[in-house]
Amino acid sequence: MRPESLMMSYAYNPAWSEGAVKPPIFQTSTFAFPTAEKGKEFFECALGIGGEDGSRRPGLIYSRLNNPDLEILEERLNLWDEAEASAVFASGMAAISTSILALVPLGHAVVFARPVYGGTDYLFETILPDLGFPTREFPAGAPAKAVETICGEMEAAGTPCAMLFLETPANPTMIMTDIEAMAEVAHRHGAMCAVDNTFLGPLYQHPLQHGADLVLYSATKYLGGHSDLLAGVALGSQEIIDRVKQYRSIFGSMLDPHSAWLLLRSLETAKLRITCARKNAERIARWLSKHPRVTNVHFPGLLESGRQKEIYEKQCTGPGAMIAFELAGADEAEVFRFLDAIHLIKLAVSLGGTESLIEHPASMTHADVPEEQRAAIGITPALVRLSVGIEHPDDLIRALSDALEVVEQEPSRSAPEYAAAETLS
Ligand SMILES: Cc1ncc(COP(=O)(O)O)c(C=O)c1O
Repeated sequence: MRPESLMMSYAYNPAWSEGAVKPPIFQTSTFAFPTAEKGKEFFECALGIGGEDGSRRPGLIYSRLNNPDLEILEERLNLWDEAEASAVFASGMAAISTSILALVPLGHAVVFARPVYGGTDYLFETILPDLGFPTREFPAGAPAKAVETICGEMEAAGTPCAMLFLETPANPTMIMTDIEAMAEVAHRHGAMCAVDNTFLGPLYQHPLQHGADLVLYSATKYLGGHSDLLAGVALGSQEIIDRVKQYRSIFGSMLDPHSAWLLLRSLETAKLRITCARKNAERIARWLSKHPRVTNVHFPGLLESGRQKEIYEKQCTGPGAMIAFELAGADEAEVFRFLDAIHLIKLAVSLGGTESLIEHPASMTHADVPEEQRAAIGITPALVRLSVGIEHPDDLIRALSDALEVVEQEPSRSAPEYAAAETLS
């Protein structure tokens, strides 16, 4: 059966909870053992004592180690990406940082495609090197040969690459990197390939099917889908996820039961929400691409030919609902006037919610990225990023059109004046 058919029932039996059709929130820190002998056995199993072959799963012990809401959620998440196992975290950054610390040996390198989300960039640029993990970047979309060369150089320097990290499409420029080609490079160098699948997953891209070893999500985005929770996910083989979970248990970076329960509810409508947002985005991207004040619309669905189109067709089954575009010839001040003028679409970071959100990467999500890097990867002062929600597409187009018109006609009107005008109307 397809994942959307199983999101209401899989991995849960109402008989476990007085017949409740929905799993309750297991809001408890600890679990009573039926007997002392069972308690001992659960711990032996959790700690891998006594020649564990990994086939036994521990009984419920303590919510930092395991909890029914987290386990049901993980089972359901596995279905979308056809993963053997997954681990849910308190945030996307918790999933990314815990997985790297669990899977990359000290002194080994992480090689990553740039751009990535600003927080991930800071992790790679500052925190990992501070901790003793060298990092090297390559431009998103780069050919395999260029990455092969970098991996060779890292090996020669005595800091071999242990993880090749991709965010594809890249936040915010939507540049795609060939997952299969990068996984092959990684494997040739004894490294694993990790893919942040936040932008297109779980509907439109399945990196494990293209050779990736680890898939990461900010579940705060499309999986959660309502901008009301923070969560992260790592998916991969049982062996990889077992190791990640060991670190998660000790770092305490797991998801809480209430957010897991909210995510279970969100997954029931994931396909509906994401499909609706994608259809809206396709219309809006086409409209933006024809607007005289708009240039450089970055949206996979608009690609007509070239290497990016080839990558898109190879590994994606839809364009998603993220669009980046530039206001032609605009500086920061003009872009801010556009953002301040916009109604209906909220000026906020994050993405993947039912509501549309718009933001300015250069001064917001990617403000941490060094300025010269920003320029090199196309995060210009004129660039805005739009996360398209499930509103009526005509209303979204109207909101964008009105704001573009205001900027055109009244370039010097102040933000409070826009706000007052909106209140009056
Ligand atoms: C692509 C991507 N990955 C990871 C993250 C980090 O996720 P979180 O905010 O849930 O920690 C974000 C956040 O915006 C993101 O956009």
